[in-house]
Formats: sequence, C-alpha cells, structure tokens
Amino acid sequence: METIIVTGASSGFGEAISRRFLAEGYNVIAIARRADRLENLSIDYPGKVHCLAIDIIDKCAVEECLSNLPVAFNNVIALINNAGLSLGFGPALDNSLTDWETMINTNIVALLHITKHMLSSFKEKNRGHIINIGSVAAYYPYIGSNVYGATKAFVHNFTLNLKTDLEGTKIRASCISPGLSKTEFALVRFKGDLNKADSLYENKTYLTAENIAETVFWTFSLPENVNINVLEVMPTGQSFGLGFTKKQDEK
Ligand SMILES: NC(=O)c1ccc[n+]([C@@H]2O[C@H](COP(=O)([O-])OP(=O)(O)OC[C@H]3O[C@@H](n4cnc5c(N)ncnc54)[C@H](OP(=O)(O)O)[C@@H]3O)[C@@H](O)[C@H]2O)c1
Repeated sequence: METIIVTGASSGFGEAISRRFLAEGYNVIAIARRADRLENLSIDYPGKVHCLAIDIIDKCAVEECLSNLPVAFNNVIALINNAGLSLGFGPALDNSLTDWETMINTNIVALLHITKHMLSSFKEKNRGHIINIGSVAAYYPYIGSNVYGATKAFVHNFTLNLKTDLEGTKIRASCISPGLSKTEFALVRFKGDLNKADSLYENKTYLTAENIAETVFWTFSLPENVNINVLEVMPTGQSFGLGFTKKQDEK
C-alpha cells in the first residue's frame, strides 16, 4: 500500500495533512512525541496508521524505526517534513541559547537525518516526493524571528539544492512556506502561556491547518512531471513580517 510519512502528526498541520492523505486512501506513518495524539489517528483510520511516538532529534530511534517498517507501510512514496517549532519571541539578545539549539536540532538537523534516510529508498525506486514545511519567516524578518526564521531559510535553500541534486530522477522536492496559521505553534512558542498565544491571533486573519493540508495534498497530487519548488501561502489579510490588517468585519 502506498504510504506517506508525516512528521509532527500529533497536532496542527501534521495532523491535518495526515487526515487529508488518509481520506484519500493512503497509509500514513505518523511521527511525533505524543503517543496519545497519534493514537487518535489510528482509532479514526484502523489499520491505516503506523504510529511512531519518537523524538525526531533522537537519531538512533529514527534510524531504528524507519529501518524496520511493517510490510504494509514499507512502500513509502512521500515524506512530509513538517515537525518543527519556534521558541521565544524576544530580540536575539534576550533569547536562550538552549532554545536556539532546540530549534536548529528539530527544524534542521532532524529534517536532514530523516530526509537522508528516505532518499536512498526513493533513489532505488526512482520515485518519491519530499515536501518540506518552511515559513514566510524565511523571507521576511520580524523582531523575535531571528533563529527560527534562519532555520526556515535553511529549509527553503536546502529544498532547492536537493532539487538540483535530483536532476534526471523522478524524485520531487518542494517547500511550502505558510504565513500566520492557527495551530499549537504559538502555544509552544510561548511555552504554554495560553493568553499570549491567543493574543497573537486577536483581530487577525489566519490560515487553518486544513488550508495547509489542502496545499500540501495539491502539491503532491499534481502529475509526477510537475514539481512545485516553493510556495508561499499567507492569509489574505496578512502583510509581511508581523504586519497584519484587521478582519474586514472589524474595520
Ligand atoms: N503555525 C504557523 O503559523 C506556522 C507558520 C509557518 C510555518 N509553520 C511550521 O509548520 C510546522 C508545523 O507547525 P504547526 O503550526 O502545525 O505547530 P504545532 O501544532 O505545534 O505542531 C508541531 C508538530 O511538530 C511536532 N514536533 C515538534 N518537535 C518534535 C520533535 N522533537 N520530535 C517529534 N515531533 C516533534 C509536534 O509533536 P509533539 O509535540 O507531539 O512531538 C507537533 O506534532 C512547523 O515546522 C512550523 O515551523 C507554522
């Protein structure tokens, strides 16, 4: 059965992307740390979800799990590198080095490790699609984005370089870069402070996880000779950086 790997499948974009592919009949390998959240997916789609409750920073765990996939899940045709996070919101001087390292290890190093692992099997089949979730933060700086924006700039640039290296193959590489979206992202960024997280979305228009799931599925579902290189997706009412316009009905 054709299988899609989705990292960060326990909430936000990753959960919605998993559900979008499951609704189309694909099997999904769902990766994240929170096992209970992943279980909800397999309850809704019995037999169609292989849950891997692992920390993607743990290279040995990732290697072990991806090298020993059950037969029903070993025909992987796409890897959606979605797991990621932003920690802290202040200017660079106020940020913690540990938070910076966690972002680099999750958004860059773990993504590279999983990609490298899957590339060899895609190369063998001469088929596969790597879809990386970037961010508009890669292109438009705002105060507090610093290392987060830089990790997403890496994701953008790595995707384009990967595509170059894949010249002559049938393997696709795409970077989808969303703008402001309502998920658990802000709650993680503000370390569980719900008021701060909610205030980020006050009087703003934002994307939903389902909007991005649809964009990812569309990118994947195009004919195999079509490669979306980079796609920026913003809510209609968002300006660049953190400049937002109020909702139309509140003007
Ligand atoms: N929301 C936005 O405004 C926005 C905009 C642009 C780009 N993005 C990007 O979109 C992606 C998804 O974010 P989201 O908005 O959907 O946020 P989210 O709801 O917080 O989801 C993040 C996902 O990543 C997983 N994750 C984080 N660290 C992990 C680790 N070490 N190991 C395994 N899984 C890990 C989380 O699962 P566990 O906690 O269960 O491990 C969760 O499933 C991220 O790459 C983010 O940078 C978000």
